[in-house]
Amino acid sequence: MRNFTDLRITDVVEMVCLLAVSGSLRQTSSNSILLRATERLCPDGVLVRHYEGIGELPHFNPDLLEDPPETVIALWSIIGQADGLLFSCPEYARGIPGSFKNMLDWLVSSEEFPGKPVALFNASPRASHAQAALRLVLDTMSARIIEEASMTVNLLSSRLSAESIAADPVLGPMIGTALDAFKRRLDNQNL
Ligand SMILES: Cc1cc2nc3c(=O)[nH]c(=O)nc-3n(C[C@H](O)[C@H](O)[C@H](O)COP(=O)(O)O)c2cc1C
Repeated sequence: MRNFTDLRITDVVEMVCLLAVSGSLRQTSSNSILLRATERLCPDGVLVRHYEGIGELPHFNPDLLEDPPETVIALWSIIGQADGLLFSCPEYARGIPGSFKNMLDWLVSSEEFPGKPVALFNASPRASHAQAALRLVLDTMSARIIEEASMTVNLLSSRLSAESIAADPVLGPMIGTALDAFKRRLDNQNL
């Protein structure tokens, strides 16, 4: 695994940068841990960064777009720098968690989001309503959902660490295959 600090600027320019965003604010979130496992399974030439600011974003209010808060400007910037987005979002009350939907609302009218390739990871096979709602929202926002890079695994009550997910003989290859497919689509810009 390589960190940003290990890389020269020329390496970063040539790399595919993925931005991982978990829809859960929980400290031990299975969705966040799933996204952390991707760092260990990245194909060569891919870097994963994590955006952990959804809890700091203000409630979306179109009036604030006239003079956007710093946290929102930072969100637009980090989204703009990413070649692709990795989302992993739980289901709350058969829907998308409010904090994650709030982040998406801030991105609706941004220049950075439309057309962005998105892989949908999902840590629970039961979260079908939230997944369907998320797809509808992302479609409406003109994201490009990359199906071959999207996947559902069952981490409900698993308590696995990112390291053990990456080392798991079933989960590790599933995640690696999804990341390989995402990189292929991003390399070949015919999305
Ligand atoms: C308030 C609340 C509502 C939930 N509603 C649902 C639901 O409607 N459907 C479902 O499958 N799971 C539901 N769950 C379970 C979570 O989706 C599940 O615990 C998931 O693992 C949480 O993701 P995380 O581990 O990334 O935090 C709910 C959990 C909470 C706390």
